[in-house]
Amino acid sequence: MKVDVLLGLQWGDEGKGKVVDVLTPKYDVVARFQGGPNAGHTLEFEGQKYVLRSIPSGIFQGDKVNIIGNGVVLDPALFKAEAEALEASGHNLKQRLHISKKAHLILPTHRLLDAAYEAAKGDAKVGTTGKGIGPTYTDKVSRTGLRVGDILHDFEAKYAAAKARHEQILKSLNYSYDLAEAEKVWFEGIDYLKSFAIVDSEHEMNNLLKNGKSVLCEGAQGTMLDVDFGSYPFVTSSNTICAGACTGLGVAPNKIGEVYGIFKAYCTRVGAGPFPTELFDEIGDKICTLGHEFGSVTGRKRRCGWIDLVALKYAIMVDGVTKLIMMKSDVLDTFETIKACVAYRHNGEEIDYFPFDVNEGMEPVYVELPGWQTDMTSMQSEDEFPEEFNAYLSFLEDQLGVPIKIVSVGPDRAQTIERYID
Ligand code: GDP
Ligand code: IMO
Ligand code: MG
Repeated sequence: MKVDVLLGLQWGDEGKGKVVDVLTPKYDVVARFQGGPNAGHTLEFEGQKYVLRSIPSGIFQGDKVNIIGNGVVLDPALFKAEAEALEASGHNLKQRLHISKKAHLILPTHRLLDAAYEAAKGDAKVGTTGKGIGPTYTDKVSRTGLRVGDILHDFEAKYAAAKARHEQILKSLNYSYDLAEAEKVWFEGIDYLKSFAIVDSEHEMNNLLKNGKSVLCEGAQGTMLDVDFGSYPFVTSSNTICAGACTGLGVAPNKIGEVYGIFKAYCTRVGAGPFPTELFDEIGDKICTLGHEFGSVTGRKRRCGWIDLVALKYAIMVDGVTKLIMMKSDVLDTFETIKACVAYRHNGEEIDYFPFDVNEGMEPVYVELPGWQTDMTSMQSEDEFPEEFNAYLSFLEDQLGVPIKIVSVGPDRAQTIERYID
């Protein structure tokens, strides 16, 4: 068997959580491979809404096993809060949530460092989620990180050494803090973590595949936030692209099957950094209001704009996307016309690829299409799609060169339409 991978193609918050939940019944296992509690994946069904940060979005469908892979960074305190809330609402996790020994731990001091580095950057700050993601991945590649497997033996000494190192940096940045409460909660999280299956997830993954089991890998963030290919330095600190599933789970590249690329019918971004199609007018406000575009983790207002096909093509290329999934098309249901960016104009020159130095001077070149002006939120099949909507889909497929397999017309699990195409 091969693993399928589902990835965000824009700047995150495309609706990955919703679609992973919808697709989970087709799979035996769901696995997260990168990121951490900077993610906020929202699922809605049966009148309930859940936001997942570290726990994979396959957790609500029957008794499926969910894996947190080695590429993930885990904050035990936030993990405990998230897992306990799910258990309290009747979802039993203990037997079916497996955590890699090699996943790195986010320490309370990593969070402080995240805040201190951001403060030191002033106007040039990234606008991180403040969850300690960057400093934790920094320790990982500096070979000084602590891993989940470390909590099983001689942990106190390792923790003390890491903390002392971090405190030295905080001191050099003149950053004042009080660690006591955060540390107490964190160690409660460490104890709680021990009650879960702490596994060699690379072996588990490969054994699953050998035994004919199917696995869906759930990406976090989005391709344009990838540390190598995103709008650097305004990115997250992990590889959010398809290759991240290989390094974040120990799955070889030749084991990758379908690659689902997920995008919104428009575009959003939270935090700082270039966003060529950003709208600063009433259309942007309308998208924000109708799409409820506020961060599920930080509550921050998301920046909104038209769909950017230049960036999308780039993401499809680096991810090797085989099927597309379009989300939140219902947000555009009332628009008379819809714009799609097909190139950028810069210094009088038109470019149709995502450049090294994408910046504020980049002016989008738009194609304008007629809107469908029809409420699509209760549609059940593509037979009901308005003509203009079909034209919009065909236009996107032509431009992007990949079929759109699923269309989402609302936040609920049930508001999902699978198209007939293969
Ligand atoms: P993720 O991080 O990619 O999982 O996405 P988020 O959960 O951060 O953000 C997506 C938001 O859009 C959530 O509030 C979802 O409930 C909501 N959502 C998902 N799909 C749709 C859709 O098709 N239409 C509408 N209106 N909302 C959607
Ligand atoms: P999901 O999985 C949207 C953004 C932050 C910031 C940058 C770096 O829900 O799509 P970090 O805390 O990772 O160091 O922040 O990345 N960011 C996200 N934006 N959705 C996310 O996750 C994000 N995770 C990080 O806003 O600009
Ligand atoms: Mg999100």
